[in-house]
Amino acid sequence: MPNTLPCPKSGLAPKPKNMTFEEAAAVFFGGVSALYFLRKARIRPGQRALIYGASGRVGVFAAQLAKHYGARVTGVCGAANVELVKSLGADQVIDCTREDFRQTDRSTTSSSMRRARVVTRGV
Ligand SMILES: NC(=O)c1ccc[n+]([C@@H]2O[C@H](COP(=O)([O-])OP(=O)(O)OC[C@H]3O[C@@H](n4cnc5c(N)ncnc54)[C@H](OP(=O)(O)O)[C@@H]3O)[C@@H](O)[C@H]2O)c1
Repeated sequence: MPNTLPCPKSGLAPKPKNMTFEEAAAVFFGGVSALYFLRKARIRPGQRALIYGASGRVGVFAAQLAKHYGARVTGVCGAANVELVKSLGADQVIDCTREDFRQTDRSTTSSSMRRARVVTRGV
């Protein structure tokens, strides 16, 4: 395997100084995957984003990016990660071990809001 690989300038971005190389490498998979699917879903302000698997490698970025784009975010994750997902800015967090998101999501959000769903975990 070569030590260096050619790459077009347009594919490069500076690493923030407060981020380690390990953290920057991890952003590539989760962050780029989340951004790709949010753009594909044409995420817009006022939409609702259901991030199913919001504490995972893809989900933590999907939750933060969806908020950045102005969506109202509902994150679904396990009990141990509810506080983590709240700290990412999710408006609502559903513990998948205690609640069925299909019930909670329907009963606590306005039907007039546009829907957008980003599933980061295979269902
Ligand atoms: N990583 C890869 O290279 C890769 C490549 C292609 C496809 N994928 C697929 O993309 C999806 C996300 O990948 P990832 O790497 O972000 O996964 P991950 O880091 O393992 O995260 C999985 C997420 O699913 C949540 N979860 C677990 N059981 C659940 C349940 N019963 N109901 C709802 N949520 C549940 C986990 O929550 P808790 O941990 O809080 O329980 C966590 O937020 C997966 O389906 C994976 O197979 C991954």
